[in-house]
Amino acid sequence: MQITLRQPDDWHLHLRDDAMLEAVVASSARHFGRALVMPNLVPPVTTGEAAREYRNRIEQAVQSALPDSGFKPLMTLYLTDTTEAADVVQAAADGTILAVKLYPAGATTNSASGVTDLSRVMPVLEAMAQHGIVLCVHGEVTHAEVDIFDREARFIETVLEPLRQELPELRVVMEHVTTRDGVEYVAANDRNLAATLTTHHLMINRNHLLVGGIKPHYYCLPIAKREEHRLALVKAATSGDERYFLGTDSAPHTRSSKESDCGCAGVFNAANTMVCLAAVFEEAGALDQLEAFASLNGPRWYGLAPNDASMTLRKSGNASPLPPPVQVGDECVMPFDPARPIYWEVI
Ligand code: DOR
Ligand code: ZN
Repeated sequence: MQITLRQPDDWHLHLRDDAMLEAVVASSARHFGRALVMPNLVPPVTTGEAAREYRNRIEQAVQSALPDSGFKPLMTLYLTDTTEAADVVQAAADGTILAVKLYPAGATTNSASGVTDLSRVMPVLEAMAQHGIVLCVHGEVTHAEVDIFDREARFIETVLEPLRQELPELRVVMEHVTTRDGVEYVAANDRNLAATLTTHHLMINRNHLLVGGIKPHYYCLPIAKREEHRLALVKAATSGDERYFLGTDSAPHTRSSKESDCGCAGVFNAANTMVCLAAVFEEAGALDQLEAFASLNGPRWYGLAPNDASMTLRKSGNASPLPPPVQVGDECVMPFDPARPIYWEVI
C-alpha cells in the first residue's frame, strides 16, 4: 500500500538556536516544505528585527545541513506585555512574520516573558484583528490552583471565549489542542478559529506517560490527557475539516535535561511524524484525509499556496526502526517513540 500527497508543512515547530538548531533542522527539512517556527528562545524573539535575524540563522543552518531541501522557515513573534502594535503590524506587512504567539506567563518552556494579563496586550490584539494577523495561542491557564489536566479547558472558558467575544475579527489558532473540549470549541465556531494537533497527542494518552514507570520522553505541555480526549483529537484530525491541521510541536531537549529531577517538557517528533501520521490515519480508515490535514488545511488558513512537491509514503511488511538519536555536542536528543510498531516509510 502507498499514498502520495502534496509535501506537508509543520505549522508549529521548535527549532531552537546555535548547536541545537544545527543538529535538528535536517529532521524537519527532510520532509516538510515549510514550518512555522516558535519564538521561545532565550531571550525570546520579540521584535521584527530579531525574527529576521533568527530566520537568517535558520536559513544558514538549512544551507549547511540540507541545502537542496528548499525548506522555508516562517516566523512568529513572541507577544509580551510590552510588545508594540506598530512593530507587529510592520513585521507582518513586510513579510517577516506570519503570526504572533501568545504564551501565558509561566505556561511552558521559556515562557517567563509571556503575557501576564490579556488586558495589557489589547492594543496589539486590536491592531492584529484589524490587519488580519494570526494569533497562535498556547491555551493553558497557569494559576497554581488549577489542576494541570484541566488547564486547557479552563483557558477556553476564562480567557479564549471572552477574548473572542471582545475581538471576533481576531484570527486565532489554538495550538496543540489536547482535549475534546478544545476540538469541540473549534468545531462550534465557524469563523476565525482553527487548531493545530501534534503527532504525539494523536498517539499517546496519559497512561503512556505514567503507567509502569514515569516516561520523561512523553512529558510535554499541554500534558497528554485521557484516552477519550486522544480519540476526539484523532476524530478531528481525520475528519477532513479544514480548521484542523498539523503542528508537530516537535520540541528538542537533550536527553539529560529530560531524564532529570525536573525534566523539560517537549517531544522531538520531527523525523518520524509523517510515518506516525500515516499509521494513525490508516487505523482511523482515513488515509485519504492525511493530505488535507498535513498539506492543505494549514496553507489555506494562512493564505498560502500548498507546496508543489509531493511525498510518497509506503507501508511495508516490516516495522520501521525509530529514527536515531540526534547528537548535539556530547549530548543527544531522543526521537519520539510512538509506543507501537510503525510499518510506514517515506520513500
Ligand atoms: O512540550 C512543550 N515543549 N510544550 C511547549 O509548549 C513548549 C515546548 C518547548 O519549547 O520545549
Ligand atoms: Zn510548542
